[in-house]
Amino acid sequence: MAIYNLGSVNIDHFYTLPHFPKPGETLHAIDHSIGLGGKGTNQSVAAAKAGAEVFHIGAIGKADAWVRERMTSFGVNTTYVQDLSEVTGHAIINVDAQGENTIVLQPGANVKQDAQSILDAIDHAQEGDTLLLQNETNLQDHAAQAARAKKMRVIYSAAPFDVDAVKQVMSDVSILVMNSVEAAQLTSALGVELDKLPVPQVIVTLGSKGAMWRSNETGEVIEVSSPKVTPVDTTAAGDTFIGYVAAGLDKGQSIKEAMEWASQAAALKVTRKGTADAIPTADEVNAFSA
Ligand code: RIB
Repeated sequence: MAIYNLGSVNIDHFYTLPHFPKPGETLHAIDHSIGLGGKGTNQSVAAAKAGAEVFHIGAIGKADAWVRERMTSFGVNTTYVQDLSEVTGHAIINVDAQGENTIVLQPGANVKQDAQSILDAIDHAQEGDTLLLQNETNLQDHAAQAARAKKMRVIYSAAPFDVDAVKQVMSDVSILVMNSVEAAQLTSALGVELDKLPVPQVIVTLGSKGAMWRSNETGEVIEVSSPKVTPVDTTAAGDTFIGYVAAGLDKGQSIKEAMEWASQAAALKVTRKGTADAIPTADEVNAFSA
């Protein structure tokens, strides 16, 4: 089987800071680096490093061929990544001494994709393949509808959180993934508890506490813990988790097995600085778990 991912491609600028700046404060960064990122790309790279066949659906600026090359070097198929005359999306990522982050996004080419190119890509998919979606592109609803019509598994991360974006895709989603803040925002905006959300399955990621899965069809709940690590940079930990869950399910693992594997991968990522470049491979995750 294969994983398709309509997802952002960003150039990430990391600034290591002693603390986050307060309003009006000017601060010297301790360090600056540039890497490959974007919630979508991070999930594609995680799934590819986990061993899945991954087709990324996205858009970059014509001037940034290195971005495509980097994705390809991690095993992501970029046939459906368009070169546009827009700038590549970028992110300003501030990381503080505790490894926490704040992120500012410039979406660029990510939100200039055309519906036909996305539908052409999904047309190539088979029943039982997976579609990953997040909230950093345009046209998630088109992609979700097309994927559902093909009987694909649709895994949607409601990040960055936008209640209208969630409402637009919810009826076509198989697994809705949120962190605990996003879950609180969604249940409050819709006025329903998690178990009444109109999606078959929900995953709530809980940072260092692990993650929880719930079937809203059967009421079954599974909780997985996360190994204790000393965090260096939590950026893209959630993306790593989702990419590994998708890859695990694509391989035929149970949801519990996939989430346990993904928790190990996300914990290992947190011990490394960076985003897509820092996501561990399956061999590294398996060695870490052992
Ligand atoms: O989840 C981390 C990602 O969010 C970064 O790579 C950044 O590009 C933003 O999309």
